[in-house]
Amino acid sequence: MAWWHSAVTYQIYPRSFADSNGDGVGDLRGIINHVDHLVALGVDVVWLSPIYRSPMDDNGYDISDYCDVDPSLGTLADLDELIASLHQHGMKLILDMVINHTSDEHPWFIESRDPASPKRDWYIWRPAREAMEPGTPGAEPTNAGSAFSGPGWAYDPQSGQYYLHLFSPKQADLNWENPEVRAELYTMMRWWVDRGVDGFRLDVINMISKTYPIGDGPAGPDGLCYQLGMVANGPRLHEFLAEMNAAVGFAEHELFIVGETPGIDVELARSFTDPAARELDMVFTFEHVEVDQAGMKWELVPLRLPVLKATLAEYQYGLEQAGWNSLYFENHDQPRSVSRFGDDSPAFRVASAKTLATTLHLLKGTPYVYQGQELGMTNAGFTSIEQYNDLESINFFHLAVSLGLPSEQLLAVIAAKSRDNARTPMCWDAGVNAGFTTGQPWLPVNADHTQINAAAAIADPDSVFHHYRKLIALRHELAVVREGRFELLLAQDEALFTFTRTLGQVRLLVVANWTSAAQPWPWGLPEVTGAELLLGTHPVGAQELSGWESRIYRLA
Ligand code: GLC
Repeated sequence: MAWWHSAVTYQIYPRSFADSNGDGVGDLRGIINHVDHLVALGVDVVWLSPIYRSPMDDNGYDISDYCDVDPSLGTLADLDELIASLHQHGMKLILDMVINHTSDEHPWFIESRDPASPKRDWYIWRPAREAMEPGTPGAEPTNAGSAFSGPGWAYDPQSGQYYLHLFSPKQADLNWENPEVRAELYTMMRWWVDRGVDGFRLDVINMISKTYPIGDGPAGPDGLCYQLGMVANGPRLHEFLAEMNAAVGFAEHELFIVGETPGIDVELARSFTDPAARELDMVFTFEHVEVDQAGMKWELVPLRLPVLKATLAEYQYGLEQAGWNSLYFENHDQPRSVSRFGDDSPAFRVASAKTLATTLHLLKGTPYVYQGQELGMTNAGFTSIEQYNDLESINFFHLAVSLGLPSEQLLAVIAAKSRDNARTPMCWDAGVNAGFTTGQPWLPVNADHTQINAAAAIADPDSVFHHYRKLIALRHELAVVREGRFELLLAQDEALFTFTRTLGQVRLLVVANWTSAAQPWPWGLPEVTGAELLLGTHPVGAQELSGWESRIYRLA
């Protein structure tokens, strides 16, 4: 077993965690001041969303200097201090490494704008579409759309050519075919390892190898093709990952390496994470956070529990023999799970947040807790587009309005799915700005912070926080939680998520009611008479399950 097989990871979005200097933006010192919160929760690894120097077009996922900390977040010395503090408490730190693209303000890209520069080939430059006037509408080399709406190619008038950006125009895709680019990135990553970081979360890592030639795809209403998968998962992906692993020393230094891989399937996940391949330790897959949408992110459909169960089970079974799962419902790109999959009304918020946690943390893999998830924080509840900061939400709104969609309907969809739901400030207490800042917060604080905050949760033994703490402790204590074989029960049940975990003679049964209605104890489960209740959300007595009740039994 690798050390991270027993780890639980906590993700921090530094801008939104804690502000120590009153400028309204979270910072590294704010994190240092709250290390006790992480200790109390019992997590093993901290993942920091990007802290590098950046123009902040995409809040740090657009890096202009890989070897420095952005001044809005602190200094390299602060980061060293944070690493030391986490290490002192037995925790590890992993950095978010964004190497599919750089900021257009990175010196490499600035140099690359000159066609005569040796760095021209470090990015992906193409001439205008044949017989089209460069820079005019529709003259982009292909109809590839960017993840943040609009063309995936930006025009550079200086050279009359276009560069590829699968995300914003300020995030230019690097050309991984060029060996100098790869060597330079590996050297930089080794520099961080030498500085004391314990691993990396690799941003959209399956996009580093492109499928060439990049061509036109099926066009949507605005004439663009938004299937990023057509460009991603290129033929050299495994080669690049194995090369990076060896060059940076992933295996050699026992680093924690998780790749973000949108649009892959279980076979690919296994091929990346099979230890024999020496590529990645685990990947973030997306099918389970797409079960409530029809095709694209913004087309909402109600959650069907059997579909979610089938998706998660497919990965549990598919990575049983080789490979490893990462387990998440939330991160900085996803809405709050209690508002999305649970019931965030006062009657069920706590129970549903706990039951979502029980379900996720009893699966096999490495669980991720996103800041505030352990408090059962809810969606932001924004009602006007002016309240948003996220470029994905804002760009989509304007594109959809231009295509004639009614703005009320769009605002409802964006309120449900926007990335800003997860990015509102962490709520520390019931005071002004939830204790996040003494200044003006960069994004509004949730209105419900007077009830939902860390101080209140820690003081209440029945809180979501203490439930998370117990789940994390259970993983540390019990080998069956870490290693046991997963088996889904009652796959078609629309209300209950039930499964067993088995290791040798030890067998756990998890029964979770994913609805707000009471449910009868179902037929067909293993006998629980005489079983030990390890953790439940409600005082147990009745056979019936209350709304959003869940129980973990150790079977006799
Ligand atoms: C990943 C990040 C997301 C970012 C994008 C571009 O999906 O999680 O926040 O916008 O990559 O770097």
